[in-house]
Amino acid sequence: MEWKVTQKPLTQLAVDGIVVLHTEGGEADGEDVKEVDEVLDFRISRLIADGETTGKYGEITLLHTWDKIPAKRVFVLGLGKAEELDVDRLRQGFAIVARKAEERGLKHLGIALPASFAAEKNAADLVQAAVEGVELGAYRYRGYKGDSREASLTSIFLSLSDLSRSGVEAGLERGKVFARATNLARTWVNEPANRLTPAALADQAAEVAKRNGLKVDILDEQRIEEMRMGGLLAVSQGSAQPPRMIVLSYFGAPESQEVLGLVGKGITFDSGGLQAKPAKSMNGMKDDMAGAAAVIAAMEGIGTLKPHSNVIAVVPACENSVDGKSYRPGDVIQSFSGKTIEIEHTDAEGRLILADALAYARRLGATRLVDVATLTGAIVVALGREVTGLMTNEASWGEEVKTAARLAGERVWELPMVPEYEEWLRSSVADLKNHGGISEAGAIQGAAFLKQFVEETPWVHLDIAGTAYFNKTKGIHSEGGTGVGVRTLIQLAIRFAGR
Ligand code: BES
Ligand code: ZN
Ligand code: ZN
Repeated sequence: MEWKVTQKPLTQLAVDGIVVLHTEGGEADGEDVKEVDEVLDFRISRLIADGETTGKYGEITLLHTWDKIPAKRVFVLGLGKAEELDVDRLRQGFAIVARKAEERGLKHLGIALPASFAAEKNAADLVQAAVEGVELGAYRYRGYKGDSREASLTSIFLSLSDLSRSGVEAGLERGKVFARATNLARTWVNEPANRLTPAALADQAAEVAKRNGLKVDILDEQRIEEMRMGGLLAVSQGSAQPPRMIVLSYFGAPESQEVLGLVGKGITFDSGGLQAKPAKSMNGMKDDMAGAAAVIAAMEGIGTLKPHSNVIAVVPACENSVDGKSYRPGDVIQSFSGKTIEIEHTDAEGRLILADALAYARRLGATRLVDVATLTGAIVVALGREVTGLMTNEASWGEEVKTAARLAGERVWELPMVPEYEEWLRSSVADLKNHGGISEAGAIQGAAFLKQFVEETPWVHLDIAGTAYFNKTKGIHSEGGTGVGVRTLIQLAIRFAGR
């Protein structure tokens, strides 16, 4: 999809469709609407007067222009009440229109931003949200169907008469990068586990590195053994797929000591291991690498935008499978950190591979950590499908990640890491066990375990088990992987500059 900024008004664009914005209860009096309305003999005004078009948030009215202007169609997009309008709604609205246009097979689309809204907002933020909306809404996972057709939308004309030029360029660049990285993560999550194996995920990471000039180091099984990454080895030993430890690094601020360490859970399929999941719960477990996808895709975005900061990504990738070689409950393993772990539950595998990865990220120089993981079913119970769980060992670093999430338009909510729950992880035969054996506060238990491997390093854990996958197409979401976390992580790396 190609973006072109133009000074021409929507009424002069020779495209398949133009989008005009309409707020609830408003008349067709916004600058752009007015112009289009006039050349269409006030048909939009009539639709509004007759109650056909209300401006309700997400409403789309499609009109043909009958050659009155070069554009063939007009999409009147409802943005809801003017006082409730924000960049998130703008992103969602443009996503809905882009999907409609894509479904209809349109090639060229013209959009504009609401002039009144632009007056009070930062131009770059507005443009970024609009661009993200279009790119996210037009996304479709192509899969392996014989009759899958190519994407239709090829060019988007952004008609801007009076927004500051530099703001527009910055917003356009960021919007494209944020959204395309998100879509990259979505596709990896949507790939079935027989195709996206740990080795295949590592290949994807290597391609990200190549495209963006990042340093890459992919540890194969032999090196993982030499490094004594006992968590990753234990979980992967029951699978025919060998594990990988994927490391990508970007050093945009070589004079700085600060290194942001991103860690993502890369279980390409989670059967639960010997303590297998019931049939139904196992469905969908190809998405258990969504944290890995978010981290690797964020590196694509960071590598493109090149902020003045240092970032390393550490992604443990393997499959949790059932076999005669599988690790068992009761086994005691030694993690990369040296700590020994008693296996209480083979389905609490994510924390075992993350323990190695967090410790390894510290070894590689990370001074601040964020991990992203589809870690617990408990977070889905607690926060549902719209909100990611956030837990931290340092409040101010937690606030920094919350700010990045807010700016990125992703919702997070903090759960408290009370020290009492760490006691549940005591083992009589090892330094700790991977689960307390009780079902209470499952999400916090997971975080409490990970905390033992970050020592004093400020760290934030994002549990995306509920938000990684959306089961319907709605707004910016397309059924399947959401790409959650990508935009927050890129935003965080940008904000990390100058530390
Ligand atoms: N991958 C799952 C968590 C998950 C659940 C992700 C639902 C997406 C949707 C994780 O490895 C897991 O199985 N967690 C267990 C831990 C328990 C056995 C201690 C869980 O949450 O049930
Ligand atoms: Zn599991
Ligand atoms: Zn899992």
